[in-house]
Amino acid sequence: SLPSHFDRPVHIAVIGGTGLSNLPGYHPVAALQPTTPWGAPSSPILILEHRGVAVAFLARHGLFHQHAPHEVPARANIAALRALGVRTVIAFSAVGSLQEEIKPMDFVVPDQVIDRTKGVRPFTFFEGGVVGHVGFADPFDAGLAAVVQRCAAAMKGDGVTLHAGGTVVCMEGPQFSTRAESNMYRAWGGSVINMSALPEAKLAREAELAYQMICMATDYDCWHSTEDVDVAMVLKYMAANSENAKHLVGAVLDELCKNENSELVQAKQWEGSAQGAVKFM
Ligand code: ADE
Repeated sequence: SLPSHFDRPVHIAVIGGTGLSNLPGYHPVAALQPTTPWGAPSSPILILEHRGVAVAFLARHGLFHQHAPHEVPARANIAALRALGVRTVIAFSAVGSLQEEIKPMDFVVPDQVIDRTKGVRPFTFFEGGVVGHVGFADPFDAGLAAVVQRCAAAMKGDGVTLHAGGTVVCMEGPQFSTRAESNMYRAWGGSVINMSALPEAKLAREAELAYQMICMATDYDCWHSTEDVDVAMVLKYMAANSENAKHLVGAVLDELCKNENSELVQAKQWEGSAQGAVKFM
């Protein structure tokens, strides 16, 4: 079994979603079980090493997929990563497509999000006397998005299709959308839909982490004339394309590891953010 401590700071993290639980070429060297003021994270944090660079890997839904999207301890996850020294987070998510041209198994690197969670998930570190208001106009990190786009372009020959930019609608779930809602999200300009982008992206912003989500379409939700989404469909497409997903995330990590000490992998100083007031561990 792996050691439960790791004594160097870890700057780069991956939050794996449904269907992304390991990465080829990355070797686990430790499995940490931190606790935070917001409780324990979704899963032990695996420290993976690749060419001498350490990367933290966290399974958003737990090792046994035991946390439904509305039950993910997002504050503990982000706080635990931040406490390790993480500055940059690549987050992966299976999504429904709201656009004809985004086909199941295509990847999307969104640059916007629409919040359709219902306020039942704890969504901020700023409460109980800690007051702060971070800007969230651009919820994702353009520098990380550019890296993902370059990596995906290099994998085009392997059948990887990536859509640069787009709006992810984050709904509460766990039920899927009604047809009326699905059509409304399309009218709003949504590209894809999931249940996991928020509050994760907001908390990452509050914790001054650069954050970019990589989405993989697993279905056409229910607006499309083909079959309506169900869990079996999500899992089927996820399994069918999981090798590509792992290779894409692996390639992005390679790039980030090479640039570990460049501006790309830096904490972001957001106006109105924690400013030392939040103790993440
Ligand atoms: N995750 C994968 N497909 C989805 C969909 N259609 N709606 C919400 N979350 C999803």
